[in-house]
Formats: sequence, C-alpha cells, structure tokens
Amino acid sequence: MSEVVLKLSGIVRSFHQGRADLQVLKGAEIEVKSGEIVAMVGPSGAGKSTLLHIAGLLEKPDAGQVMLAGQDATLLNDDKRTAIRRASMGFVYQYHHLLPEFSALENVVLPQMIAGVSKAKASLRARELLGRMGLSGRETHRPGQLSGGEQQRVAICRALANRPKLLLADEPTGNLDPATADIVFAELLSLVREQGLAALIATHNPDLAARMDRRVRLKDGALVPA
Ligand SMILES: Nc1ncnc2c1ncn2[C@@H]1O[C@H](COP(=O)(O)OP(=O)(O)O)[C@@H](O)[C@H]1O
Ligand SMILES: [Mg+2]
Repeated sequence: MSEVVLKLSGIVRSFHQGRADLQVLKGAEIEVKSGEIVAMVGPSGAGKSTLLHIAGLLEKPDAGQVMLAGQDATLLNDDKRTAIRRASMGFVYQYHHLLPEFSALENVVLPQMIAGVSKAKASLRARELLGRMGLSGRETHRPGQLSGGEQQRVAICRALANRPKLLLADEPTGNLDPATADIVFAELLSLVREQGLAALIATHNPDLAARMDRRVRLKDGALVPA
C-alpha cells in the first residue's frame, strides 16, 4: 500500500557560469514511496543539493516535472508551492539553520504554529519529538548552548514537526564528527521509519548510504542505481 510520494521526471537545470552554461541536471528521474528511505550519493558538485532544492520546491527546474503525492508542483503558483512545502515536507540541511534566539522547544513549535496548530498542541508534539531524540533535558536551551549533535537532532525534530509525508535531507550529518554522525544518523533513520515517511537523503558517506533501503547515484546529471 505504499504510495509514490515524490516523483521527479526529466529534471533539467543549468547555471550560467561566465559565458558558458553548466548543465548540472540533464533529465534526472526518481520515485520515492512512503516508507522508503533512499540514499543519493555522488561526488561534491554532482548536483545533489540542486536536486533536493528542486524536490523541496525551493527552486524550479528549467524543465521536468515534480510530482508530490500525485500533484504536479511545477504547475502551481508560489503560494501553493509554499503551502505544500509547509504541509507535506521536512528539510534537514547539513548546517542546522535553527533560529539562534529561540529555545530548542520553540524551534520545533514555531513551524507548527505557522501551519496553524495551537501552541498547546505544538508544544506537546515538540516535547514528544525532542524526547524521542533524547533531548528532554535540553528543551529550554538555545542552539548556541547545544552541541553539534544536539543541534542537528533539534533540526530533525523541526523537520518532522508538521508530520510531513516526505523528508529531504542534504548531508544531514556531514558537519558532525564520525561517532556523533553515526548515532544521529541511526536516530534519524529510526524516526523516519517509525513515521513511515518517504525520505531522500544525500550523503557521500558510503557507510551511511548502506544503511538506507536503496541507493541512487547522481552521475552526469542523471540518477542511476548505485
Ligand atoms: N546558484 C548557483 N549558481 C551557479 N552555479 C551553481 C549554483 N548552485 C549550484 N551551482 C553549481 O552546480 C553544481 C552542482 O552543485 P550542487 O548541487 O551544490 O552539488 P552537490 O550538492 O552535489 O555538491 C556545482 O558545480 C555548483 O557550483
Ligand atoms: Mg551539496
């Protein structure tokens, strides 16, 4: 009963570099189903971040289709794209991008309130997620008072706060030391599996990629099985 949550078809994207055009994506295709965790590997500069930004509706492709839960997002206006992004996707970056002036709890509460959830309900959900990530004692800490691993755990809770269908992550443990990366990554995977999400996770760590359900490689602008 797994539903195709994300489907990219014929994604093309180039950037102007001086007089030349750099073609980064040349018809990339992928389907990710609910409950499936896909690793995207490929060397630095291959276009992994570009592809994730397009899948996350943060950027538009030059050509191709981004289907999210059966809806073609490339046909929608910016307001609708933002609404879909808020309601059905979570994004985790390599660097946490938490709001420095707010506590860990508030960082997980705020996106829910923006989505229209009451403060009481949002706090309950935030406490549950932070507890699940072993951060119950850190709720009132600001990002600057947390370790790198703890910051990234909060960023993961924030990404999952609105119960998205799809998690996109761009080298989510790339800034952590190997031992911490290992633990945080295991926690991320177990949380994603528990919630039955579809996930597309860029990494250039083969050990992390091996722990996901399926691997694709971004090579010459296209996605191929890895
Ligand atoms: N906004 C941009 N303007 C110009 N070139 C870009 C831009 N974003 C990415 N690129 C180029 O596209 C290529 C792919 O970048 P990126 O998607 O960040 O790769 P990866 O995440 O796999 O390291 C790189 O050569 C990069 O310099
Ligand atoms: Mg990148």
